[in-house]
Amino acid sequence: MLERMDDFFTARVDGYDEHMRQYVEEDSKFYAYTASLLPEEEGAEVLDLGCGTGLELEAYFDINPAAKVTGIDLTEAMLKALKDKFPDKAITTVCGSYFDVPFGKEAFNAAVSVESLHHFSEEEKLPLYKKLWEALKPGGYFVLTDFYADTDDQEAYFRRELLRLRKEQNLPNDVFYHYDTPMTAEHEKRILLSAGFSKVEELGSWDTTHTLRAEK
Ligand SMILES: C[S@@+](CC[C@H](N)C(=O)[O-])C[C@H]1O[C@@H](n2cnc3c(N)ncnc32)[C@H](O)[C@@H]1O
Repeated sequence: MLERMDDFFTARVDGYDEHMRQYVEEDSKFYAYTASLLPEEEGAEVLDLGCGTGLELEAYFDINPAAKVTGIDLTEAMLKALKDKFPDKAITTVCGSYFDVPFGKEAFNAAVSVESLHHFSEEEKLPLYKKLWEALKPGGYFVLTDFYADTDDQEAYFRRELLRLRKEQNLPNDVFYHYDTPMTAEHEKRILLSAGFSKVEELGSWDTTHTLRAEK
């Protein structure tokens, strides 16, 4: 049975950081690398989509302890772990879906997302990326580190499987369920460009994890 997205992460919050550090290939490298691309100026405003327990933020606060971070996540338990970890940092948390939460206009110097958006389709991401584009200040940018498919065939297979499982289990359309549907990094780049980003580059990759940087 597919699990609801928030139930899936609530059930795994204890030990989540250790699991990610131990089992995700070379994770310490991509968390540190992602953080190294975020703004270094004091008081920089950064939006984190699907921040979870904040593994990327741990690395970022080492570089910029005075950053002001807004973290959005569906799972209250993940946000509680994040807040417990960083009681002295300027973090605003929002428990909700990044598809629904308003981001504001020209509010952030940069945005980041790590290992969260591979659950969603182009139809879901395009309006999200347009909203994100509007939320970035002039000169702002988005650093996206995520799990990607190697080929179009793989991408199509995961999407078909999700639709098949949802149908088989008679799941409602308006609830998120946990199932990985990575797209190719090339497809992700095209969506970011369609949303209005002026330049999208791939800056790093670790097996199936790639880091993209999209400029407003
Ligand atoms: C694999 S965790 C990644 C957490 C953190 N960024 C990291 O790399 O350790 C994925 C996170 O995305 C969150 N998430 C999934 N879908 C979401 C949505 N639509 N809106 C907000 N958060 C979401 C989950 O609750 C979970 O905390």
